[in-house]
Amino acid sequence: MEKILVTGASGQLGAELVAALRAKYGEKQVISSDIKETPNDPNFLMLDILNKTRLREIVIEHKVTQIYHLAAILSASGEWDPKKTWNVNLNGLLTILNLGQEGLIDKIFFPSTIAVHGLNTPKQNTPQFTDFTPSTVYGISKITGELWCNYYHKRYGVDVRSLRYPGIISWKTKPHGGTTDYAVEIFYDAIEKGSYECFLQEDTMLPMMYIDDAISGTLQLMDADKEKLSLRTSYNLAAVSFTPSQISQLIKDKMPDFNISYKPDFRQAIADSWSQTIDDSYARKDWGWKPKFDLNDIVDMMLEKLNIKLKQ
Ligand code: SER
Repeated sequence: MEKILVTGASGQLGAELVAALRAKYGEKQVISSDIKETPNDPNFLMLDILNKTRLREIVIEHKVTQIYHLAAILSASGEWDPKKTWNVNLNGLLTILNLGQEGLIDKIFFPSTIAVHGLNTPKQNTPQFTDFTPSTVYGISKITGELWCNYYHKRYGVDVRSLRYPGIISWKTKPHGGTTDYAVEIFYDAIEKGSYECFLQEDTMLPMMYIDDAISGTLQLMDADKEKLSLRTSYNLAAVSFTPSQISQLIKDKMPDFNISYKPDFRQAIADSWSQTIDDSYARKDWGWKPKFDLNDIVDMMLEKLNIKLKQ
């Protein structure tokens, strides 16, 4: 019987991943954890990922078999305190990889990101193997994390799996501190204020994905036969790519009074260093990845779900 620990469980991805894992494995089989308290969750444990002793205790006491290690500081907020970002993003992972090396856990999931790319990376159809010279400490910590995952797999046989997520668009839990966050904020402001001031320029194209695709891709990768996985760094993963101007036009089609204005800040340089479209053929070939939601679906879902949520 699997017992799963999710770190960073209160975050944008964590909240929905915990729900999906509980639906699959049972409520009590999935422990959610975060540095902040999550109300109304009897299977929640407070955990600072830098507290190695507590993490080890939880793994042993609850006989944890898998860890989905989502706790991290994202691209934009990471720049405010680079040393802390490196410490949280990298050392938390190393503690977990060491638990895998000791044989205390069977499987680990590590989220990577499009932020591993940099200014020298080809922007269109970015290949799996390419230049990795990220401009953010978040990107540096994630590409280094990928290399450690690969090392622990090859050297110690640790079953660690990873995806390079694009920006995730979701309505249940807001993202915090990312450069792609505008693609979620825009829906909240469209409904609540009728207008949105975007922190990126109108023609900034970035790869994005609806949360349901991100969750099903994650579960699919974690369920895949070991033998099928040719990559133990991290898989490129793609769904849609669009600009602020394109998404705002689709919102305007549904809400004719909606207005967008542009006031780029420091996040523009981060976005400019990332890819625009991604070649995810390894994920498609190795474990059958295929996204379901296109941009029209995403806009429809976000407006429908947020209209209900925000009017409650
Ligand atoms: N969504 C993330 C960010 O913007 C990218 O991984 O930081």
